[in-house]
Amino acid sequence: MFKLAPSILSADFSKLAEDIKKVDEAGAEYLHIDIMDGQFVPNITFGPPVVKAIRKVTKMFFDVHLMIDKPERYIDDFVDAGADLISVHAESTVHLHRTLQYIKSKGIKAAVALNPATSLAVLDYVLEDLDMVLLMTVNPGFGGQKFIPQTLGKIKKLREIINNRELSIDIQIDGGATLDNVYEITKTGANVVVAGSAVFGSDNIAETVQLFKQKNYYNA
Ligand code: DX5
Ligand code: ZN
Repeated sequence: MFKLAPSILSADFSKLAEDIKKVDEAGAEYLHIDIMDGQFVPNITFGPPVVKAIRKVTKMFFDVHLMIDKPERYIDDFVDAGADLISVHAESTVHLHRTLQYIKSKGIKAAVALNPATSLAVLDYVLEDLDMVLLMTVNPGFGGQKFIPQTLGKIKKLREIINNRELSIDIQIDGGATLDNVYEITKTGANVVVAGSAVFGSDNIAETVQLFKQKNYYNA
């Protein structure tokens, strides 16, 4: 039920393969891959060639978070590069339903990401089609920011909506997760936790992954 998704945004880009191996061997379920275009968010990371390169060094589940304008333009490229799941921001694509159907037509999982200020209402007519919802718990663009406490109410509300509709959809949170708040976040209803700086900025990456896996509500 619980899954940890270390974000390589905070990894050492000169030693990506080594850092990925550490979180894989420590038992992290997903590898969270942040794609930023300098347009939708005020930061630039990397594109499909880098995803393709790391695909060669690991079998981990690639959870690709697209923080780019009009993500529909790049779905093919990220699928070809090895994505297992693609999250698109509701704020970044005009035809959200079409974009989600397109991702699913490629045989991979689809998720919608929402910025902290975006209402859950945008999910109303697409929820049944989703494998996961990504709730941003910081404003997207950078690692190492502080968890926004108001998002806890949003997580709770979304879990209620999913339960009321008798769906089984993962809720992923992204931003500001730490060993100190992972219990509360997961107790509130999120079951997939992204952690960038908390994992890759720690002195012992493997131990931190294991602690996240122990301290969450599902396993504590
Ligand atoms: C932020 C990214 C996050 C980021 C999280 O825009 O989407 O995935 O890596 O980093 P931390 O866990 O350090 O907040
Ligand atoms: Zn992310």
